[in-house]
Amino acid sequence: MQRSNVVEALYRHTAPRYETAIAPVMRPFAGDLIQAARIRPGDVVLDIGTGTGIVVRTLLGRAGRILGVDTAMPMLRIARSLLPAGTKHVTFLQCDANTLDGLGNACCDVAIASFGLGDCHPDRVFRAIARVLRPGGRLYSQEWGPYDRSGDPRAIVNDTLADYVTEAAEGLRQRFRQHLAVPRPWDTRLQDSDDYVEALAEAGFIRVKVTESRPVTVIFDAGVSQFLDYVLAWAPQQMELQAMSIADRRAFHQAATQRLAPFCDATGKLHWQPLVFRASGVRKF
Ligand SMILES: C[S@@+](CC[C@H](N)C(=O)[O-])C[C@H]1O[C@@H](n2cnc3c(N)ncnc32)[C@H](O)[C@@H]1O
Repeated sequence: MQRSNVVEALYRHTAPRYETAIAPVMRPFAGDLIQAARIRPGDVVLDIGTGTGIVVRTLLGRAGRILGVDTAMPMLRIARSLLPAGTKHVTFLQCDANTLDGLGNACCDVAIASFGLGDCHPDRVFRAIARVLRPGGRLYSQEWGPYDRSGDPRAIVNDTLADYVTEAAEGLRQRFRQHLAVPRPWDTRLQDSDDYVEALAEAGFIRVKVTESRPVTVIFDAGVSQFLDYVLAWAPQQMELQAMSIADRRAFHQAATQRLAPFCDATGKLHWQPLVFRASGVRKF
């Protein structure tokens, strides 16, 4: 199975839980990035890896035309279904960001990607974005920064899960294991800010700015259980959990709950402040 097919399968199987368990976490990051993008009325905005359309819905009424692209049809179906009735000037399109085939040259003023590029090939996708942006058009993107294995609760859940998964796996569960074990081209090519600057400059961007910071603190009001819902909503984790015995599942929950306790405040709310890489640039004139 090709890498792109595994990614498509991952989002096909994650889509049913995305809006309830994952979107509440992604929304504040999208809002923060959009604020940085300072969209002007009339701007034609492209949202790459739109998923269930969080960025598109946040932009309604603020931009001219909005185009959301994604490879996963089940995500796009949800995005379409969540648009308010009578919404105009919004289009969702199934399209691979690595090429953006189907989009004309210089057709957009702004490109936004909120955690939508991580499964793409950096050089290909930056070149494709440079092609569809008009000269002077702007790109704003964000992706997760490196995991701090002991200080990031997401890594702690995944490491705890790994202690309880069944030894053998087959079918899609095995494909997900193989997929996750191999570093993504995104992470190998873009290890630090200098790599981003180089890749974007080579693709035709100027005034490139890259930051590695913790721009958003997500507060999980319902504490550990809500955080576990978020991490375990992803298809590979769901499948591992479902394949476990009831006793192992219970033991995993107990261990994870204990290890996540230090991230909770006195009222039981869990605070998460992950590292994020943000990159922006202007399409060369
Ligand atoms: C982590 S989700 C982010 C979705 C949304 N931007 C958000 O903030 O919730 C990543 C999205 O990128 C899409 N994606 C992955 N690879 C892609 C590619 N090559 N071309 C277009 N979309 C892709 C996935 O299908 C998924 O919907």
